[in-house]
Amino acid sequence: MELKLVSTTLTVFLLIISVTVTTADYVRPQPRETLQFPWKSKPHSYPQQVHISLAGEKHMRVSWITDDNSSPSVVEYGTFPGRYSSMAEGESTSYNYLFYTSGKIHHTVIGPLEHDTVYFYKCGQQGPEFQLKTPPAQFPVTFAVAGDLGQTGWTKSTLEHIDLCKYDVHLLPGDLSYADYMQHRWDTFGELVQPLASARPWMVTQGNHEKEYIPLLQGGFASYNARWKMPSEESGSTSNLYYSFEVAGVHIIMLGSYADYDKHSDQYNWLKADLLKVDRKKTPWLLVLLHVPWYNSNEAHQNEGDGMMQAMEPLLYAASVDLVFSGHVHAYERSNRVNNRRPDSCGPVHITIGDGGNKEGLARKYKNPKPDWSVFREASFGHGELKIVNATHAFWSWHRNDDDEPVRSDQVWITSLVNSGCLAEKSHEFRKILMAP
Ligand SMILES: [Fe+2]
Repeated sequence: MELKLVSTTLTVFLLIISVTVTTADYVRPQPRETLQFPWKSKPHSYPQQVHISLAGEKHMRVSWITDDNSSPSVVEYGTFPGRYSSMAEGESTSYNYLFYTSGKIHHTVIGPLEHDTVYFYKCGQQGPEFQLKTPPAQFPVTFAVAGDLGQTGWTKSTLEHIDLCKYDVHLLPGDLSYADYMQHRWDTFGELVQPLASARPWMVTQGNHEKEYIPLLQGGFASYNARWKMPSEESGSTSNLYYSFEVAGVHIIMLGSYADYDKHSDQYNWLKADLLKVDRKKTPWLLVLLHVPWYNSNEAHQNEGDGMMQAMEPLLYAASVDLVFSGHVHAYERSNRVNNRRPDSCGPVHITIGDGGNKEGLARKYKNPKPDWSVFREASFGHGELKIVNATHAFWSWHRNDDDEPVRSDQVWITSLVNSGCLAEKSHEFRKILMAP
């Protein structure tokens, strides 16, 4: 009897421990080393660093690099392996950065493509065959979300976990390669992400690590803009630093934390025009991504987003944005619906997810007491999954890299604002703010 009591007590004690270690107090170990990429000999015309991105209704942009400057920017594709019923020709570019000269960077738009369909494709009529799956036309649709990736042992772990999830589109709120002026590191990053990024569209926006600006010598975003061309033209933007796209029933706006954002800026005016185009009957969900968080209770990067928030938060609020994802802070934090620094049932949920696994390590210190808008915060590497089930309901989960296992550590059902009454309530404000000259 006594033995049974001891055993029960021990079980309860172990249960308490196991519950405790999965709470928000859990703190990850040290950063991992930057990965080494042994040099591999490939024919100069072979495609490298293949990645795809959405490029307007039913179209996809295929991007890759060749060492051979005469290699054609041609993609052959079809729905059966080795049998290509269609072909498209695109454009190419290259850039110089100090003593570095990039390979030939190809961007070729293919389509129209069927929804939710596997395509097999070949780049530049050389090298291996790749395959991609197009997103569905309607719900459900799933997004993988991870920012501040870098290329370390933790990045590898995060990418392996994302690969296990059945997702349609990857959303990356800035800070991709952490090349930090070492241009060949953009090439190794491209190779590292190719297995995932050649199979599902990767939609990215820029972070501070994409800038690589050197006064008098190098303009900003040279590598990022040349390599990661996003559908800016397709969405009426004049800059690769901000754009929008639609997938299934979701309108997604990628903002640029490092482009001008004041009321007279091109980005601000483009954002107003883009919000006015959103039809919530067609796209009931409205998402925004940007790099520097507006709601952040971590001590890292405190108040850095304040200027942009002051300029643009009223627009996002008036338009009833559902969710805002950001990166920059190397940790995870989820807010309640919030606006103007106060909980507000008609404001967006803000999620900071700059925890992809870069070489700088985690941002471990939080401000206390926790602000009333903050629901969950934790300094761990990981990734998020947003499964939008229908016009009104989405399931968000955050998966911590628990050593090398993905562990679901935060999860919540989110209801969209589309049927909440917020849209009707704010319709006057929406017109006033968005239609102002
Ligand atoms: Fe950053």
